[in-house]
Amino acid sequence: MKVVTVVGARPQFIKAAAVSPLLRQVATEVIVHTGQHYDFNMSDIFFEELELPKPDYNLGIGSGSHGFQTGRMLEGVEEVLIAERPDWVLVYGDTNSTLAGALAAVKLHIPVAHVEAGLRSFNRAMPEEINRVLTDHASNLLFAPTKAAMDNLAREGLSSRAILVGDVMADILFRVQPKLKEAQDELGRWGVQPGKYALLTLHRPSNVDDPKRLHQILLAVSKLKEPVLFPVHPRTQERIWKYGLGKVVQAYPFRCFAPFGYREMLVAEANARVILTDSGGVQKEAYLLGVPCLTLREETEWVETVALGWNVLVGDALGDVLERAEEIHPVEHPDLFGKGDAGQRIVDALRSVV
Ligand code: UD1
Ligand code: UDP
Repeated sequence: MKVVTVVGARPQFIKAAAVSPLLRQVATEVIVHTGQHYDFNMSDIFFEELELPKPDYNLGIGSGSHGFQTGRMLEGVEEVLIAERPDWVLVYGDTNSTLAGALAAVKLHIPVAHVEAGLRSFNRAMPEEINRVLTDHASNLLFAPTKAAMDNLAREGLSSRAILVGDVMADILFRVQPKLKEAQDELGRWGVQPGKYALLTLHRPSNVDDPKRLHQILLAVSKLKEPVLFPVHPRTQERIWKYGLGKVVQAYPFRCFAPFGYREMLVAEANARVILTDSGGVQKEAYLLGVPCLTLREETEWVETVALGWNVLVGDALGDVLERAEEIHPVEHPDLFGKGDAGQRIVDALRSVV
């Protein structure tokens, strides 16, 4: 069996690292990196740290508008697929790289499998929502991480292609978790103490592309009583400077850093009193690590974490972020994302269909 894996953005390297070693035990894997993310801290660091094999192809597409970026990826991935003729194309998540990979494959009649299928925010203004819906409908096999994702797929008539496998991000977290103690020294370097700081990540266009909204978020977070560890996504970094908000984040309580590697990020998450984020992956990791989370969005795809009280949605109600952060005292912590065998289930399913 030959599988072409298409990745391009930070969370996809992390997800692929959960599946790739298992896949390589039974198949030939060819990795295509679209080049959507390209800074060392957004790309190479994850290949090195998680021992993901170097890409066989790097299309080097880089940044650009949605049409430009997706269009160039589509062209580049198609060329690779014509040369490689795999049995499967494997795509992850909901980025422009995901959609381009799926579309290139389906047009060449090559079967597509989508990892993290069935997630919906029901907000079509999010670029990811369009990418998810189109990728799911183009794919032959849909690997859903949660029961809610399976239900979404059923509503769209896609049940016959869907399998509930659990979440590959839980797999990789469980794999790296035993090594976190060794990396604990980072806290001192960041100038924070365990349980006595908040962790912030921001990168959604709805939060960072609007100067007023970004300013409001930073002001609200700055009212927290403890230091705020803030590994800044490059998109957000660019907007902070463009909108003249540098002074806000240079003042207390922010401790700004370049994006963290995966292990550093898990250390930062595991030791935080509270996590404030608009990231999909970080919401799940907060739950898995048992850390309360405030999601700086109106809605989430990870509805189970909200239902259990571990995750609170903070849309426009930024004024009371401080109080909301104090109020999270969930009791139950059931298994939501699987036992760490999602990658194996994915590989088994791919093998059984070829
Ligand atoms: C993308 C995904 C988003 C995902 C996120 C993960 C889409 C539409 N969006 O958003 O779903 O949650 O990745 O982090 O696919 N930049 C750099 N260096 C890099 C990468 C980006 O400087 O290595 C800057 C560029 O100015 C670029 C901007 O960040 O224009 C945005 O990058 P892009 O990949 O378009 O979108 P993300 O916001 O990263
Ligand atoms: N992450 C990281 N360093 C950071 C911020 C995030 O390694 O500085 C990891 C995080 O632990 C999670 C993944 O990146 O595994 C989430 O990716 P991101 O927030 O970029 O995208 P999303 O999940 O929202 O698509």
